[in-house]
Amino acid sequence: MDTRILITGANGQLGRALALKYPKAIALNSDQLDITSQEQVKSFPWKDVDVIINAAAYTNVDGAETAEGRIAAWQVNAVGVANLTKAAMARDIKLIHISTDYVFDGSKDNHQEDEPFSPLNVYGQTKAAGDIAVSLLSNHYVLRTSWVIGEGKNFVRTMLELAKKGINPKVVSDQIGRLTFTSELVRAIDHLLSCNAEPGTYNLSNSGKPASWADITRTMYDLVKLNNTVTDISTEEYYVGKTNVAQRPLNSSLDLTKICSIGFTPTDWEIDLGEYLNKELANKN
Ligand SMILES: NC(=O)c1ccc[n+]([C@@H]2O[C@H](COP(=O)([O-])OP(=O)(O)OC[C@H]3O[C@@H](n4cnc5c(N)ncnc54)[C@H](OP(=O)(O)O)[C@@H]3O)[C@@H](O)[C@H]2O)c1
Repeated sequence: MDTRILITGANGQLGRALALKYPKAIALNSDQLDITSQEQVKSFPWKDVDVIINAAAYTNVDGAETAEGRIAAWQVNAVGVANLTKAAMARDIKLIHISTDYVFDGSKDNHQEDEPFSPLNVYGQTKAAGDIAVSLLSNHYVLRTSWVIGEGKNFVRTMLELAKKGINPKVVSDQIGRLTFTSELVRAIDHLLSCNAEPGTYNLSNSGKPASWADITRTMYDLVKLNNTVTDISTEEYYVGKTNVAQRPLNSSLDLTKICSIGFTPTDWEIDLGEYLNKELANKN
């Protein structure tokens, strides 16, 4: 019998990619299943589900620094995740959850899975709380990822739009990490499921040389032969005159040794970036 999969947050970047990969899955957006609602989660027909892939999250990092955003982020990323954990625990359902490098302060330049939590911002705090909830379940995977790019609002699309408007952007050059394309997250989730890997936390980003947001933007413009120039600015300069801007870790690179040790080979981010840009440009023309 096929594994019966439930995808929550199916309208997000990762949710959309998962729904394409698993067309037979039950894929529900926030209107169809609000994970913060104890009632909705409790009354869901769980007998039809073997695996929950939780792609639902509050991801507005700066928004989470506002009074309303702080509440919403805690509701979705901590309370909602605890609701799903409870449902999974009661019926021995496998729960796959997505974490972030923002649970760390970025003082280490290569984060391993067992690094103690040290979030700098509200989003990171709420995501750490969600990770702790999921870890109470024996049958779980937490995929910890960074800088996600897929179908939706994201950094690559923003930089492409700026270039098309003729803008030469100033981009932060002291935050270092690697992009993670949703195609890569989906491939890793499928790998964990099909090889029945040991439960626990696995880091997952694309591979390749860690780079700054400014360098990624330059690579983008080179790949699609745009002449726009990119000026480096520091995170500190970027904050000047802005309120409610979340503090971000300077080092977001994730150590990929553990996921490689179970037979998964991450793709270099520059390769996936090239493919992503070609598709973006083809769709727009
Ligand atoms: N984006 C990144 O750069 C990044 C980096 C590291 C880790 N991550 C993690 O990766 C995962 C996927 O991120 P993403 O980029 O795909 O996020 P996304 O595009 O923002 O999608 C999140 C989805 O969650 C849904 N959602 C919000 N509240 C919900 C609720 N109460 N019940 C059900 N669904 C709800 C949203 O629906 P509505 O639109 O209806 O609100 C949205 O469709 C998240 O766990 C995120 O924390 C992301």
